[in-house]
Amino acid sequence: MTKNKVSSDSNWAFGPIALSFEEIKPHLLISNITEPEVIKLVTEMSVKFTKKREQIADYVFEHRHVSAYASFYLPTNMPKLEFLLSKLPANILEDFKNRPFIDFGCGPGTFSLAWKKLLHIPAHVEMIGVDSSQIMLDQATKIMGGFFPKEKYSAVRKYSEKKSNSVLFFGHSINEMGIERAQDNIMTIDPEYVMWIEPGTSDLFPELLKLRENLLEHYDILYPCPSNAKCPSNWCHQVLRTSHEPSIERLSQLVSLDRKILPMTAHVYKRKTKVATLPSAATVIRYIQETKFSFEYEVCFAEEGENKNVIIEIQKKHLDKNQEKAFKNSDVGEKLNFTVEKVIGAKYRVRLT
Ligand SMILES: C[S@@+](CC[C@H](N)C(=O)[O-])C[C@H]1O[C@@H](n2cnc3c(N)ncnc32)[C@H](O)[C@@H]1O
Repeated sequence: MTKNKVSSDSNWAFGPIALSFEEIKPHLLISNITEPEVIKLVTEMSVKFTKKREQIADYVFEHRHVSAYASFYLPTNMPKLEFLLSKLPANILEDFKNRPFIDFGCGPGTFSLAWKKLLHIPAHVEMIGVDSSQIMLDQATKIMGGFFPKEKYSAVRKYSEKKSNSVLFFGHSINEMGIERAQDNIMTIDPEYVMWIEPGTSDLFPELLKLRENLLEHYDILYPCPSNAKCPSNWCHQVLRTSHEPSIERLSQLVSLDRKILPMTAHVYKRKTKVATLPSAATVIRYIQETKFSFEYEVCFAEEGENKNVIIEIQKKHLDKNQEKAFKNSDVGEKLNFTVEKVIGAKYRVRLT
């Protein structure tokens, strides 16, 4: 259990990512875009993001729309990567640092920027943004060049080479390209790691589950599942509770979009090795209740070769003050290590380890 809302299980020192509108503005394609214009355009495009894939579309084709997207969604999506990385062990984070990073559906460079900043990626490491929209690529190039002036960022419309030592990342783009295309790209690039952060919707979940099943032939899942066994859920997602820089909070209020509670579906896979690197911790999938004596959560955990969804009870008398405080603020998607003390009906009484 972590002490702060977003801190690594491994106490990895992530670089800061909070950005203000003023810090982003000089790097926008339309650098004189005004706050009222951003508000108007984000309000229009947000309606499209809540629709089905075939209706999402044209926000990528116009410089002003892309600048508005970058002003609002870039800084509010970046913390999702911090959340996801904080759930991974230090040896995996260390292993990421020198690998080529391919941001597929990079948009304005949201997760390329977050990756560089959070993991302190050295200048020599290859960073590649792929997007079907040339305007998005131009925006990503300007943003990456703005924040890392002396470093190379390759922004390309197609990437169909093998890059077997890479980390292949999808940020809200499988939702648009569909799982067949995503899988084709994964098979072509054949990366060491596959990661995605996609919308946490119940519509998309069955699709991502199909992709999970297909990937498990060649990859082990590191997050969020406790093992490669069949998924017992009909909708598993994570919920990050966060805050943003004040000018971004202000934008969020003015467009009436809550960006402090961020549902998402995040997965991480690593190529199978002879020695399995499977995770074993349980993942919180739902908060049930806090009673006077305990916290109750529904978790997904592996037992006897199966992934199971069970209710666990954690007794407060075994927690110190910091742990208790952390539980009050904990996110759906947290990892927990515990031993089962007693099974009471359908509930497991557990002790954290
Ligand atoms: C919702 S945006 C996400 C941008 C960024 N990754 C983020 O999370 O803020 C999705 C991006 O995926 C791109 N995209 C959609 N289908 C694609 C495809 N088949 N190949 C490459 N990019 C694609 C779109 O142009 C768009 O920029």
